[in-house]
Amino acid sequence: MRVTIFGASGLLGKALMREWSGDAVIGLSSRDADIRDAKHVQRVLLEARPDWIVLAAAYTDVDGCESNPELAFAVNRDGPLNVANAARELGARLVFLSSDYVFDGKKTTPYETGDERNPQSVYGRSKAEAEITLFELMPECCIVRTSWLFGAGGKCFPDTILKLAASRPALDVVNDQRGCPTYAVDLARAIIQLCRKNAEGITHTTNAGDCTWFEFAQQIVRSAGLTTTVRPVSSEQMARPAPRPAYSVLSPTRLRSLGIEMPSWPDALHRYLEERRKTGI
Ligand SMILES: NC(=O)c1ccc[n+]([C@@H]2O[C@H](COP(=O)([O-])OP(=O)(O)OC[C@H]3O[C@@H](n4cnc5c(N)ncnc54)[C@H](OP(=O)(O)O)[C@@H]3O)[C@@H](O)[C@H]2O)c1
Repeated sequence: MRVTIFGASGLLGKALMREWSGDAVIGLSSRDADIRDAKHVQRVLLEARPDWIVLAAAYTDVDGCESNPELAFAVNRDGPLNVANAARELGARLVFLSSDYVFDGKKTTPYETGDERNPQSVYGRSKAEAEITLFELMPECCIVRTSWLFGAGGKCFPDTILKLAASRPALDVVNDQRGCPTYAVDLARAIIQLCRKNAEGITHTTNAGDCTWFEFAQQIVRSAGLTTTVRPVSSEQMARPAPRPAYSVLSPTRLRSLGIEMPSWPDALHRYLEERRKTGI
């Protein structure tokens, strides 16, 4: 199988490049191909002739998207459209990475793949519009919604908490947003399986179990053997430019129906902290 990955220099992209073996994989950063440039994307894909394209490239600064919506929609909605148009011409299959932020967070039970989208932020809207446009153009497209990504090779929550915990006696962390932390390595492995299984439609692909950011931070501090106190606070107390859903737990029902099980997030965190220790991050 020939595979082209857009966003290969990102957190997930790096994990995909490390985990993918047995196929011919090409990884591209924004310098290799800016997905806003339709002609360039077409040229690159014509040359690579992939069977599968994994589109992990995105403008992922959720707060930045609020102040720069033009960039958010150009990269997160129009870019994927350029990739899908080129993929269709070649007959290549496409995996598009989307987000739990396409939901409004008003549910109190896990979101199923068919639940109505109602994004509250510019980032969420750009992803939701991309999903709709991609399905119109390419009904067999595979959309992987994920959440709260962490791992080596990018900015992530466990790294931030460990850095702060090393220099402060106490940390305030939001306790009114519940979601599913996801280790980039586990997500990458699931995406590889989805391609090998010729998956279509939407899947929710996160580590199993859920928590609040406060509970996640507590577990990080405890697992690292630190004594820093973690204090629960509300989103209102930690105001950010982009609204986040209060509840964005994604149901794995569809993923399970494809025969894919994800490890729990505490297990994933344990493996990530081991990876950090071994590589001296
Ligand atoms: N991180 C999360 O918590 C989270 C949660 C839900 C969904 N997701 C989705 O999962 C996917 C992977 O996220 P991530 O955290 O790995 O992202 P990331 O670390 O921010 O990496 C983003 C990648 O996109 C590339 N990129 C940015 N603008 C581009 C452009 N105009 N043209 C081509 N490439 C461009 C970057 O290339 P350069 O390095 O060259 O800039 C980089 O490789 C994204 O679709 C994201 O929306 C992430």
